[in-house]
Amino acid sequence: MYTVAIANHKGGSGKTTTAVNLAASLAEMQYQVLLIDLDPQSHATLSFGVELETDEPSIFWAMGQENNDRALLAEIAMPVERGLSLVPSAPLPIHEEESLMGRRDRLLRLRELVAQIQKYDFVVIDCPPALGILTCNAFMASQAVLLPVETSFYAMHGVGRALEAIADLEKRYGHAVRHMAVATLFDRRTALARDILEELRRYFRGAMLDTVIHQSIHLREASSHGKPVTAYAPSSRGCRDYCDLAEEFLQRIGVTTGEVASGCSEEVVLLAQMYGNSRETIERLRDAGYTTLEGLRRAQAKKLAHHAGLSQHVARQMIRHATRMQGFTTSTRHRAPLPAEPRAVDLGEASVSPDNLQAVG
Ligand SMILES: Nc1ncnc2c1ncn2[C@@H]1O[C@H](COP(=O)(O)OP(=O)(O)O)[C@@H](O)[C@H]1O
Ligand SMILES: [Mg+2]
Repeated sequence: MYTVAIANHKGGSGKTTTAVNLAASLAEMQYQVLLIDLDPQSHATLSFGVELETDEPSIFWAMGQENNDRALLAEIAMPVERGLSLVPSAPLPIHEEESLMGRRDRLLRLRELVAQIQKYDFVVIDCPPALGILTCNAFMASQAVLLPVETSFYAMHGVGRALEAIADLEKRYGHAVRHMAVATLFDRRTALARDILEELRRYFRGAMLDTVIHQSIHLREASSHGKPVTAYAPSSRGCRDYCDLAEEFLQRIGVTTGEVASGCSEEVVLLAQMYGNSRETIERLRDAGYTTLEGLRRAQAKKLAHHAGLSQHVARQMIRHATRMQGFTTSTRHRAPLPAEPRAVDLGEASVSPDNLQAVG
């Protein structure tokens, strides 16, 4: 599972549009995607035609629970498109924000919640327009941060603040997050937009994605119709731009487009296709940790049958087959492996205080 936060402390930079449509584009490519709306303004939630009251189970409800033995996000995620589920947001009353600030795990709460879910290939987090506790939670839960930057006059102003916050979290908690930036709301006809794009490329260098998101009326309209652009206007420029973004994002993180992000080695995928109803079997194998030939070879038929939903006879055959394949193949190359999960961070007694937080927020 790979988690990416979409962040920029400026409002109107295209965060929500990027989170919704990147998530939808990844789902179009057959990945299982969870979109978390972490902005109390709930724009991503509203863009799917969903509106919650403060007391309904939202991301903030889950963050406020003490209980850690249930996968709360899985309980409240609602399917919104094929392959795409949404953890909705709701207004965040001030006392709830305060009680979040008072928790010992306040910077890691979202990360704990994300760690409990397994069935998704990607988690995309739409951040609020601030670098406060919510956005820091998103950074601590993510392997990458994607910064959408509007190609307007104000684009460059304060653009480094998010990078400073990322660097600060890395320095204090050893949590490394890679960053990428994407130009949004680009109007090719204006010289100013072209100049700003050049300036952004100079500033972000290799972290700037080649894909540019152009201004597109379809992107604006899609959310008012309660749909991502992939469903609302699949042949529009806006849809093409976001599909390009998804492809480039996958390349950058080392996943080849078109492959199933199964997390299983190619040989395990092949065996699952031979012996089971492929996608489901692959997911079950992955969730149970049978991701390599070596793992399958050492499996017990009874357990394997149970985990992968196979008969014991078939499970035995699969193990035998895996053992034979072991001799023939030297490749344990993973098919579209997802990069490693973030390292565990132990806050220990050096737990964060609201003062520390000011440094990033
Ligand atoms: N590429 C685009 N073309 C046209 N309108 C866009 C585009 N990206 C965003 N918008 C519109 O700009 C406004 C702000 O975008 P939004 O994604 O909500 O930004 P943020 O989440 O950073 O505040 C919204 O009305 C949205 O529909
Ligand atoms: Mg937004």
